Amino acid sequence: MTEQVKFEKRDTLKEKPDNSNLGFGQYFTDYMLSYDYDADKGWQDLKIVPYAPFEISPAAQGLHYGQAVFEGLKAYKYNDEVVLFRPDENFKRINNSLARLEMPEVDEDVLLEGLKQLVDVERDWIPEGEGQSLYIRPFVFATEGILGVRASHSYKLLIILSPSGAYYGGDTLKSTKIYVEDEYVRAVRGGVGFAKVAGNYAASLLAQTNANKLGYDQVLWLDGVEQKYVEEVGSMNIFFVENGKIVTPALNGSILPGITRKSIIELAQDLGYEVEERRVSIDELFEAYDKGELTEVFGTGTAAVISPVGTLRYEDREIVINNNEPGEITTKLYNEYTGIQNGSLEDRHGWRFVVPRY
Ligand code: COI
Repeated sequence: MTEQVKFEKRDTLKEKPDNSNLGFGQYFTDYMLSYDYDADKGWQDLKIVPYAPFEISPAAQGLHYGQAVFEGLKAYKYNDEVVLFRPDENFKRINNSLARLEMPEVDEDVLLEGLKQLVDVERDWIPEGEGQSLYIRPFVFATEGILGVRASHSYKLLIILSPSGAYYGGDTLKSTKIYVEDEYVRAVRGGVGFAKVAGNYAASLLAQTNANKLGYDQVLWLDGVEQKYVEEVGSMNIFFVENGKIVTPALNGSILPGITRKSIIELAQDLGYEVEERRVSIDELFEAYDKGELTEVFGTGTAAVISPVGTLRYEDREIVINNNEPGEITTKLYNEYTGIQNGSLEDRHGWRFVVPRY
């Protein structure tokens, strides 16, 4: 029998937002999951508590030295059924991130059970419109108040929930404009690029703001050594359709191993496409474009789902891909991926985890 997670009820529930104008990550539900770690006792006190500010030591190590990791996944509601998409993969990855930052790993099954119970409590918050879902943000940070640089002896894990719409706003499959970053780099091999650590995102913001000022949505990062090979976009992995083949940068230690990336590779292969995971240079892409061989570009991510890239700018050159429209393969993959999520297509890989009513 499943054990019931401790549940601290709040006195009054919040007013729910207008689902026609959700944006991304702006609203939070009534409750969150909380789990604490102490070096003597290990992970303990798993509970569902009211979503609210909490106290933290001003000397908490997570605030000073960046011991902080996070995840992103989604819950969907279709025909009254609530489904999590591949949560097991997120909890595997959070443990890889924790290990890299010398933080204590969690029991993935305990966390999954806690999440299911939290999402069950919050099922009325899950929006059901096109492209909408309940975005789930698990995160862990160091709480010990001591300024010596060493691994903290205490941590907090929280999972918060945010009813959300499309990441880039507007419609699903909206084309994005991407700036190829040629000054700053995101990660280097041997570093923390493969982990979902807060600092990776902090390090990306200056370049992103610069790109936004020039009218671009996000930056495409090049490798940290030669600044020649494509790695990933700010909040998504990247795919190219070259000569009918789907090409994506191979995971090399400095690229985030995206769960949507992994799912899209499997679905593309199911559909009979050849998928190459390899080094892709930015020069190769512009040369392929000139020959008419670069026909589609798209990004993948939990928040971004599948986002077509309509414009790519590198140094002084800007190219427009497929007339700024989502391409045929991009659209096919989007329909396949979202069809499995919403249950209209067979879940042949066992990716849907139905949330029971407890
Ligand atoms: C996600 O896709 O869930 C992400 O974590 C990307 C971004 C919102 C940070």
